[in-house]
Amino acid sequence: MTLTIAIDGPAGSGKSSVSKEAARRLSYGYLDTGAAYRALAWHTLARGADTADEAAVIDAASDFPYAISLDADDYWVRVGDTDVTSAIRELRVSAAVSGVARVAAVRERVNDLFRTLVAASALPGVIVEGRDITTVVAPDAPVRILLTAAPEVRAARRSAELTDEDAAAVATALHRRDAADSQVVDFLTAADGVSVIDSTDLDFAQTVEAVLRVAAAGGAAP
Ligand code: DC
Repeated sequence: MTLTIAIDGPAGSGKSSVSKEAARRLSYGYLDTGAAYRALAWHTLARGADTADEAAVIDAASDFPYAISLDADDYWVRVGDTDVTSAIRELRVSAAVSGVARVAAVRERVNDLFRTLVAASALPGVIVEGRDITTVVAPDAPVRILLTAAPEVRAARRSAELTDEDAAAVATALHRRDAADSQVVDFLTAADGVSVIDSTDLDFAQTVEAVLRVAAAGGAAP
C-alpha cells in the first residue's frame, strides 16, 4: 500500500520545491498535479486550439498521451514523444492553464490519472501536490497539508525564481491566476482535518521540517 501525503496551496507558496525535498527525505515519490494541467494546456495550444474554448480542451484531453516522472531527482513531463518539462513553465502556458483547469470533465479525467499513477507505483509513499488533493483527489489520505504564505511573500518568491520579469508583473500575474483558480477549487481554506502550515515567516528548510513533522504524525517514515 502506498501512503499518500496530500499537499495543497496557492501559486508561490513553495509547495513544489518543499514537496520535492520532503519526498527526497522520505524516499517517497513526488507527483506534481499542476504539471498535468500545464501539459494539457501545452497540448491544446500545440493543436492550434484556444484554451478558452471548452469543447477544444475536452477534445484535446480525450487524446492526451501524458506521462510524468514520480522521481523528485529525475523529474520530467512528456506529451507523446515530446519532453515538455521546460515548455510547460513558459508564460504562454501559465497564462492559458486556468482555462484548462476550470473544465469539470477535464478535472475528472486527470484526477483518475493521478489516482492510477499512485496506485500503480511500487513506492512506499507519494507526495501529491496541487490545489484539490486534500479535498477531491485524496480526501482520505493519512497526511493532508495546506501550505500557505502571505500574498506579498509568494509574489517575492516567484519573482526571485524568474529573470525576465519585474516583480510587479509577477505579482499581477500571480494574483490573476489565483483569482481564476479559486473560482474552481478553494485552495485557500483548510478542509476538516487538514493541517495548515503558514510559511510566511519560515525559510525553506524550516518549511520542509514542518511538513516532515506533520507527515511523521500521520505515519510517514523514511
Ligand atoms: O501548481 P501550478 O502553478 O503548476 O498549477 C498549474 C495550474 O493548474 C494552476 O493554474 C492551477 C491548476 N491546478 C488545479 O486546478 N488543480 C490542481 N490539483 C493542480 C493545479
